[in-house]
Amino acid sequence: MDGSATEHIPVLADVLVEQIRLPQDAVVVDTTIGQGGHSLLFGKGLGPKGAIIGLDVDINAIRRAQSVLEGLPCRVILINSNFSEIADVVRGQGIEKVDFILADLGVCSAQLEDDRMGLSFQRNMPLDMRLDKRLKTTAADIINRADEKTLADLIYKFGEERASRRIARFIVERRHREPITTTGQLAAIVSSALTKGGQWSKIHPATRTFQALRIAVNNELENLETLLGSAPALLGQNGYIAVISFHSLEDRIVKTDFKNNENNGIYRIVTKKPISPLRSEILNNRRARSAKLRIAQKV
Ligand SMILES: C[S@@+](CC[C@H](N)C(=O)[O-])C[C@H]1O[C@@H](n2cnc3c(N)ncnc32)[C@H](O)[C@@H]1O
Repeated sequence: MDGSATEHIPVLADVLVEQIRLPQDAVVVDTTIGQGGHSLLFGKGLGPKGAIIGLDVDINAIRRAQSVLEGLPCRVILINSNFSEIADVVRGQGIEKVDFILADLGVCSAQLEDDRMGLSFQRNMPLDMRLDKRLKTTAADIINRADEKTLADLIYKFGEERASRRIARFIVERRHREPITTTGQLAAIVSSALTKGGQWSKIHPATRTFQALRIAVNNELENLETLLGSAPALLGQNGYIAVISFHSLEDRIVKTDFKNNENNGIYRIVTKKPISPLRSEILNNRRARSAKLRIAQKV
């Protein structure tokens, strides 16, 4: 399936629309266009001189967003590109300054359910995890080829998983017997390494290991740092940057970047503390439960 039937509810949309007031001729760069949910909201407030530049590494997301954003009153330019390339993409459109940069990190619900993405530990699918199919290395390549120490370090660093060594040992033992090629196999191996008598804590035992692999396969933290590094030069005066993150590694990077830019007189931090969704939003959209929004404004 291509997951297009799965509705994606944009996270913290009300707060964003309330906090970020844009003129009708604003240029918005939605660096993670996904299913176009956030862009649809902002695009409705723009006029014919305004523009939305939407990026996504997933070509299917670009296709889905195209139909969602059809009919907006502003220009819509969608590009299958990594947000680490934001500076080249924006300048490539002949645009020097933008009014709003939005990043809603991670993956959409549709991608989690898409067998071709190979992201989910809830369902069995080929172990891939590349959001951008132009990347060469899949999660299965890492799981089957990396040595035990490299695996343990990766799961520890990107998954903040304390039992990383035990998980890596279980993975290496299993792959001596058969290659690990599906998400179901990996989820079962991690579960057997972590659960005693089938007992789970609050989250699925494979959550952290899957997070670690996805970050590694997609180079997520480095790409985020590059995006944040490019933003000050692209934002016009009073322009906004907003980042919604879903785990502490990402949030720490955003927090540090905004703080450094504030100390250097480049940003004013709008959200002194990160904004989390209300209980009512989480009840309606489980994906929102770990979301944290930080906003800064170019001085
Ligand atoms: C949570 S979804 C965005 C949802 C979107 N805000 C909406 O309301 O529909 C995240 C999207 O970012 C994309 N993505 C992740 N990392 C990216 C990167 N480095 N560059 C561009 N897109 C990326 C994913 O493919 C996914 O489509």
